[in-house]
Amino acid sequence: TDLPFAHHSHKGPKPLRKILVTSALPYANGPINIGHLVEYIQTDIWVRFQKLRGNRCIYLCADDTHGTAIMISAKKQGVTEEEFIAGTHEEHQRDFAGFDIEFDNYGSTNSDENRKLCGEIWTKIRAAGLVKEKEIEQLYDPEAGTFLADRFVQGTCPYCKTPGQNGDHCENPSCLKTFEPSELIDPKSTLSGATPELRKSLHLFIELEQLHEFLNEWTKSGPLQDEVANYLNGHFLHEPLRDWDISRPGPYFGFEIPDSPGNYWYVWFDAPIGYIASTQQWCDRNGEKLDDWWKSDDVEIHHFIGKDITYFHTLFWPAMLKSAGLSLPKKVRIHGFLTVGGRKMSKRDGTFVKASTCSKHLDPSAVRYYYAAKLGARLDDIDLNLQEFVDKVNSDLVGKVVNLASRSAKFVQQVGLSAEYPDDGGLFEQAAQAGDVIAQAYEDCDYAKAMRLILELADRANPFVEENAPWVLRKDESKQRQLQDVCTVALNLFRQIVIYLAPVLP
Ligand code: MSP
Ligand code: ZN
Repeated sequence: TDLPFAHHSHKGPKPLRKILVTSALPYANGPINIGHLVEYIQTDIWVRFQKLRGNRCIYLCADDTHGTAIMISAKKQGVTEEEFIAGTHEEHQRDFAGFDIEFDNYGSTNSDENRKLCGEIWTKIRAAGLVKEKEIEQLYDPEAGTFLADRFVQGTCPYCKTPGQNGDHCENPSCLKTFEPSELIDPKSTLSGATPELRKSLHLFIELEQLHEFLNEWTKSGPLQDEVANYLNGHFLHEPLRDWDISRPGPYFGFEIPDSPGNYWYVWFDAPIGYIASTQQWCDRNGEKLDDWWKSDDVEIHHFIGKDITYFHTLFWPAMLKSAGLSLPKKVRIHGFLTVGGRKMSKRDGTFVKASTCSKHLDPSAVRYYYAAKLGARLDDIDLNLQEFVDKVNSDLVGKVVNLASRSAKFVQQVGLSAEYPDDGGLFEQAAQAGDVIAQAYEDCDYAKAMRLILELADRANPFVEENAPWVLRKDESKQRQLQDVCTVALNLFRQIVIYLAPVLP
């Protein structure tokens, strides 16, 4: 049989699962880098694993296109926001394809589908009595004609008087105080250099506190890694939840709020709804109904994200879904950050490597295998160590896996395969038995364990070839049958191993 992971299945097929998977929607204001790739490769492996198992699984993603950063980038290039995001949409898809990352749909948050869904979900949230309006004071750039997010204000620290501090905290290591951007001495807008002024404007808030009890229960009911559930409990859920500011006054690149003209949904409101909008596009192309995926108890929703966007996906998003009567994620699977040589990726160190640069120099399999071998089920950061990368690919993939085939395939081409599968001393059966544990490791996102288990199979198969030395048998006319048997076994064990590796090395 060619059913992966099912060579030994005498229990009959298990009922198929219906699974909807997402990765975080990358910001459209910059290129995909090797840090992003950790997430998209991790998710792609999981999706390919599920598809290989025979489950129904769709992988959805999109570009996250709204917000101030995109407006600034577009302006710098002298193009409209729409033109700007169309460019990155192409680039991102090319970058992902270069690493064998395959989406069932890759959309955009700036789509008609998303606008419509945002409106519908907004209406439900309003109807649930969760929205309130408040006037707030914010720094405003009179030259750029826009309110300034904290990170677009620079000035002198009000405490230690160090100049050139960003937004709301001081980076002087002996100070590190936090403050309001309006407290900065001699503040300047980084957009125009103008001196910002305080202005009042109306903002719309979602009163999350009304969903506190629900979030308490939900976060503890199994969708999160233990360390995440504990973190939320210790940092957010132990006190009343703060109102969430979900609007921005114009000009803002986003969707205008239909019942609040002049105000736009904050990018983090419409971004996760982009998961649903991307599903909608996939449904429309495949004759499926959206409610069968987002309002059905038969579907498992799995979100893959990095640890930096935890609270959006574990507090705000579930609260929105709950209020809108949509399905909650079965799992939010959170990973750590890529570091390079033990340090944060940085432009200055040259470690902020673009995916497109990486593609020019490497086979995607090498990167996919290395990331897989490093990824566990927890939130630890993943360190890219170049020497280890080279060693691992050479010793594991080339030395152990490919070697099995390269030492037997050429003889098989000469003498053919044995008519019946020869006695292999139980190697195939042993490796088949390992299928369940390997599958569980993939399911749990413990790819490091899966890779270890699979490489153990190669470690057992290689000595079989060495002991039987087909290159010696080949020279003896009377040993051709033996040669055929040894190579048949070696190739079959190779086949079994590459099937186990197929989610990683498609
Ligand atoms: N646009 C938001 C997500 C919206 S989801 C509704 C965003 N975009 S991002 O481009 O900054 O990041 C996309 C994903 O890549 C995030 O899950 C983020 O954690 C992940 N990573 C970005 N840099 C990373 C590393 N250096 N290492 C690992 N993952 C990283 O956040
Ligand atoms: Zn300071």
